[in-house]
Amino acid sequence: MSSPSPTLIEQLSRYQQSHLLQFESQLSAAEKASLLSELESIDWQQLSRLVGSEDEVIDWHALARRAEPPPAFALSDRSPSITRQQAFEAGERALREGKVGFILVAGGQGTRLGFDLPKGLYPIGPISGRTLFQMHCDRVLGMSRRYGVDIPVYVMTSPATDAPTREYFESEQRCGLAADQLQVFCQGMMPAVDASTGKVLLASKSSIALSPDGHGGLVAALQKSGILQQAAERGIEYFYYAQIDNPLAQVCQPDFIGYHLLAGSQMTTQVVQKRFAEEKVGNVVSIDGRVQIIEYSDLPADVAKLQNADGSLRLWAGNIAIHVFDRSFLKSVVESAHGLPFHRAHKKVSFIDSQGQNIDPKDPNAIKFERFVFDLLPIAERAIVVEDAAQDVFAPVKNANGAAVDTPAHTQQAILDQHRRWIEAAGSSIDPGVNVEISPRWAIDATEVAEKLTTPVRFSESTFLG
Ligand code: UD1
Repeated sequence: MSSPSPTLIEQLSRYQQSHLLQFESQLSAAEKASLLSELESIDWQQLSRLVGSEDEVIDWHALARRAEPPPAFALSDRSPSITRQQAFEAGERALREGKVGFILVAGGQGTRLGFDLPKGLYPIGPISGRTLFQMHCDRVLGMSRRYGVDIPVYVMTSPATDAPTREYFESEQRCGLAADQLQVFCQGMMPAVDASTGKVLLASKSSIALSPDGHGGLVAALQKSGILQQAAERGIEYFYYAQIDNPLAQVCQPDFIGYHLLAGSQMTTQVVQKRFAEEKVGNVVSIDGRVQIIEYSDLPADVAKLQNADGSLRLWAGNIAIHVFDRSFLKSVVESAHGLPFHRAHKKVSFIDSQGQNIDPKDPNAIKFERFVFDLLPIAERAIVVEDAAQDVFAPVKNANGAAVDTPAHTQQAILDQHRRWIEAAGSSIDPGVNVEISPRWAIDATEVAEKLTTPVRFSESTFLG
């Protein structure tokens, strides 16, 4: 039977975590091995710095008071230094040359949605019932068709979503992607600690309470999985990045990629106008000349509510978590990303106490640590911001139906509204009460819809154009 190494015992004792082995004698060989492997995987010194707050704690509230609106390629700009058309053409060239890959982050647990499976398996297609994974893959297939290349898809999971995600792609023939077009890789985990004592919580006698290390874990996970290297070998220079929860993301959108290229940016962020001051989106701002994102939870209400003379929000730019990264930038931050700050979240975490009893706390009892990928922004030498209209790019599935915003019903309506606009722009019509859903395999955008509907069509029955 394996035993804890002297180094592990010494570290646990030095960092006051020896309680984690207190049930060791009651464990089977397999349970013991599993616990030891979890304990060995933790950077105890780093954790102790976090718990002791020896790491610099960023005072987001103070920063927020110095925040200004970011310089952006805004929709209202009448004489931009780069036009949308120029950007579109540059983006198309990069796509055609096979230089663009797609990173999809899908490691979160979708607790707010109340869906037990990975969020990617949620059936969101308003008529088709396609899953979030299928919708993103269909867009990739449509773009691959248009540009004559297989755009590679890199899906980041967490230990909670990894196995079901892999099983799903296996049973669905990778949603139509070619065998070498899909890579699933798993992010790391961080322990949760008791908020008052800093002691790591046990989830059971043989496991500690772990949760994903945040999407900022992406950088380390890309490196560890070998994907950064493989992408380089495949000729990928740029990654378009989006979250699983937003099926309106126009994956690998050419003009967005083109702005990144023409502006010589290392990390580019797509933003939309915030709908209201305290909307739950990150705030893209400029602080001391650097683009940065202040999370909604870190923005004081009075700062969020500041207005311009015309009544519009001063901090207007909402983060929709869509970025373009230079591959070489990600490579260069592999080392420095160890310095990405951790954000602390006060959460409810079930645990077993020193008597071995299961405790389900009613109030937040624990601290979880997460890194955010957008904290790479101030590290970038050049980072630009591009505005798009929310109705074209952002309709996230966050909350269960019935909530005021960001529910599956809202997302489905946004998808149908977009497809209606495309069809009407092509001179066709949809009868009242009728819905049409378009798969990107059929048409990727308004232009392709117009190419398909050369003579006007009247849709009198709900239809899925797949
Ligand atoms: C996130 C952004 C917010 C943005 C909003 C847009 C953060 C901290 N905030 O908020 O600025 O305005 O999206 O929709 O990201 N994920 C992982 N691994 C993790 C944690 C999350 O892969 O460890 C993925 C999730 O699967 C999800 C995405 O990251 O796709 C966002 O996570 P979530 O916690 O839902 O962020 P929000 O609070 O909605």
